[in-house]
Amino acid sequence: MANFILRLAEPKDVSDILRLIKELAKFEEMEEKVMLTEKDLLEDGFGDHPFYHCLVAEVQKEQSTDDKKRSLTKTHHQGYNVIGFAMYYFTYDPWIGKLLYLEDFFVMQEFRGLGIGSRVMKMLSETAVKTRCSSMHFIVAENNKDSIEFYKRRGAADLSSEEGWRLFKIDKEWLLKISAK
Ligand code: COA
Repeated sequence: MANFILRLAEPKDVSDILRLIKELAKFEEMEEKVMLTEKDLLEDGFGDHPFYHCLVAEVQKEQSTDDKKRSLTKTHHQGYNVIGFAMYYFTYDPWIGKLLYLEDFFVMQEFRGLGIGSRVMKMLSETAVKTRCSSMHFIVAENNKDSIEFYKRRGAADLSSEEGWRLFKIDKEWLLKISAK
C-alpha cells in the first residue's frame, strides 16, 4: 500500500492539476486539446463561485523521486508530490435532482494499482452521499476498457448502451451565431 494522502485541492495546486490534466489528455491521445491555463484553473476553481472542485492525491517526496525515469518531480509541496487528481462538480437532473459529475480522474502510471483510485472513489461517494446526490455521472472513452471495468466493478451502468443516450456539444462558434440572431 502506498503511503499517500488525499485532500481537497488548494490554489497552490493549480500547476500540478494542469500537469495531470495534460498527462490524462496525453493518455487519451488528445493532448493538443488542452487550452486551459493555470490562471483559468485558479479563477474557475477558487473564486467566489467555484466551477469545479478537485481532490488531489499526494505521496511522500522520496517515494516519487526514487524512480529516476520520472521527469515530473519538479512540483514538491511540503515533502509531498501530487500524483493523482479527481475533478468534479455538482449538476442537476430534473428527474432525480442533485448529481455529482466526475469530470477527470487520473493517477500517474507508476502509482496505479495501489488503491489510490479506490480511495478517491470512496471519498467521492462520501461527498455525494453527504450532499444528497442521487448519482455520480461521468463519461469514459469507449476504448478505455480498463477504466470501464474499474467503474463497472464499482456498480457503474453504461447509459449509452443501456439507455441509448448520446453526448452532444455546441461549440462557441455556433453559440455566437445563435446568440446573434
Ligand atoms: N494499473 C491499473 N490498475 C491496476 C494495476 C495497474 N498497474 N494493477 C492492478 N490494477 C487493478 C487493481 O487491482 C484494481 O482493481 P479493483 O477494481 O478490483 O480494485 C484497479 O485495477 C485499480 O485500483 P486502484 O489502485 O484503487 O486505482 P488506481 O490508483 O490505479 O486508479 C484509475 C484508477 C482509473 C484512476 C487509474 O488507473 C488511471 O489513472 N487510469 C488512466 C486514466 C484513466 O483512464 N482515467 C479515467 C478516465 S474516465
